[in-house]
Amino acid sequence: MEIVILPDASEVGRVAASVVADVVEREPEAVIGFATGSSPLAIYAELARRADAGELDFSRVRGFALDEYVGLDYGHPESYHAVIDRTVTKPLGMDPALVAVPDGMASDITAACAAYEAAIDAAGGIDVQLLGIGANGHIGFNEPTSSLASRTRIKTLTPKTRADNARFFDSPEQVPTHCVTQGLGTILRARRLVLVAQGAGKADAVAAAVEGPVSASCPASVLQLHEFATVVVDEAAAARLT
Ligand code: F6R
Repeated sequence: MEIVILPDASEVGRVAASVVADVVEREPEAVIGFATGSSPLAIYAELARRADAGELDFSRVRGFALDEYVGLDYGHPESYHAVIDRTVTKPLGMDPALVAVPDGMASDITAACAAYEAAIDAAGGIDVQLLGIGANGHIGFNEPTSSLASRTRIKTLTPKTRADNARFFDSPEQVPTHCVTQGLGTILRARRLVLVAQGAGKADAVAAAVEGPVSASCPASVLQLHEFATVVVDEAAAARLT
């Protein structure tokens, strides 16, 4: 695993964006895995800047989001369909038909999860998967105790994650209780993983992921099993690394 420690959050975004940019320059139809949340926003802003400047063309790039809430209407501004559209698809100039988000509104969630896995396979797999990390070590919405081999499925959000995400909703009760998320096994199949973390609140999770045992107690520790995993952090998030 490669660890890159940078002075601040904007540098984290710039360096992680360069990894994506290199792949898209080489392969205009690259498949990129997108995370939501605050952590990757600087990456998307930097990629949008390069796209606006004509340095990068995302029009043929294909995308798969990591996760989605269950039962949250896609018209809700905090549904990940809406978030991906607002922060990724539009700013990067991607074709919406080429960007997929798990279906949290499906009447048959199990079938929708299997279809999502099949769609990733049909696209030839994910070239670069971008990841944030939860304060409890989750990636995607794979909460602690998630199977290391898991595939896209429905999960219950922990009280901690619901509390962390309450900032995006009018009240904590509005945070959905369930989600659909790519599994840890799905994430490990991506050809390259780039996890970003900024701020002291992520320092314990980053240390557990990078230096702790590979364990379902810290789902992000599965990155240790991947041949091409890069963790890009600012100094505050790196503070608990030895
Ligand atoms: C969201 C996701 C989550 C977040 C994590 C960190 O798609 O995959 O694992 O990356 O909850 O969230 P932020 O970046 O908001 O601290």
